[in-house]
Amino acid sequence: MTSPLPQLDSNGRLRHLITLDGLEPGLILELLDRAQAYQCLPGRLPPRGDELSGWTVANLFAEPSTRTRASFELAAVRLGADAINLDVMLSSRAKGESIIDTIYTLQAMQVDVFVIRDSQAGIVEFVARHVGDHVSVISGGEAHISHPTQGLLDALTIQQHKGAFRDLTVTFVGDIRHSRVARSAYRALTSLGVAEVRLVAPGEMMPESHEFRGARRFSSFDEGIAGTDVVMMLRIQRERIAEAIPTDIDRYHELYGLTAARLARANKQAIVMHPGPMNRGVEIASDVADGPQSVIRHQVANGVAIRMAVLAHVAEARRRRAS
Ligand code: CP
Repeated sequence: MTSPLPQLDSNGRLRHLITLDGLEPGLILELLDRAQAYQCLPGRLPPRGDELSGWTVANLFAEPSTRTRASFELAAVRLGADAINLDVMLSSRAKGESIIDTIYTLQAMQVDVFVIRDSQAGIVEFVARHVGDHVSVISGGEAHISHPTQGLLDALTIQQHKGAFRDLTVTFVGDIRHSRVARSAYRALTSLGVAEVRLVAPGEMMPESHEFRGARRFSSFDEGIAGTDVVMMLRIQRERIAEAIPTDIDRYHELYGLTAARLARANKQAIVMHPGPMNRGVEIASDVADGPQSVIRHQVANGVAIRMAVLAHVAEARRRRAS
């Protein structure tokens, strides 16, 4: 049997970032604090650094992405690294090359960090087991299982807008069963001590009972949203659903779409979140997505800051191991 891969090095620092499972709250908070230093204010030049000077970061994405891939590239470049973006379907993988041969090939070109998105569970850890001792592997989203940097940027956004986690009720709505975003955000938020997590979904989109332990489950959105502080809307993950998916989109929107009328049932200061990409008119109405309670674009901005924080942390940890 293969032993669990430690993400942490002997100094307790991140060598890889595959999952938020088991990360100490102190380390999560440290990453959120570090990200604050990389905040980009509208209209100002983005912060830059040399923490990754001389490094090369390779994005290997085997699933579509706008936010995660672009923000990892910006994060790497703003910290002084070279960045490679490999569209896996247009790479030699399409000619039959294995993922490990692709990794070895890029490692021979002095890649220091691989950021991997894949629909296959276990691939990120598999790669982490095969890279050289000096190389780090960061998940850019693994199947329905994990999207750790998304979980961190969601936690940062909530912290910035709502303050202390311990007083908050956070409600996830939609296709939670197939959502890696919900799983990683739940890990981060429970680790940071949120008071209450709620799940609102139709039966076929509700996760199994052994997951999201302690969360309150609702089939009625009107009941689940009442008095909540944070509403996290999720799209239907059609690419991960084998069984029949709802075809009556109007009916889905009526039952599980976030409208202004429904949002009025939440706490008056509630924030609206969505990891993107959004399906306007399905899980969220346009006026809510663009409305005053929406922090969706703050999430995007925080994506760059969090990815800078994670890359800078990993680089610092490597320097410390080498010294
Ligand atoms: N939230 C997120 O992962 O978005 P992308 O698929 O655009 O990267």
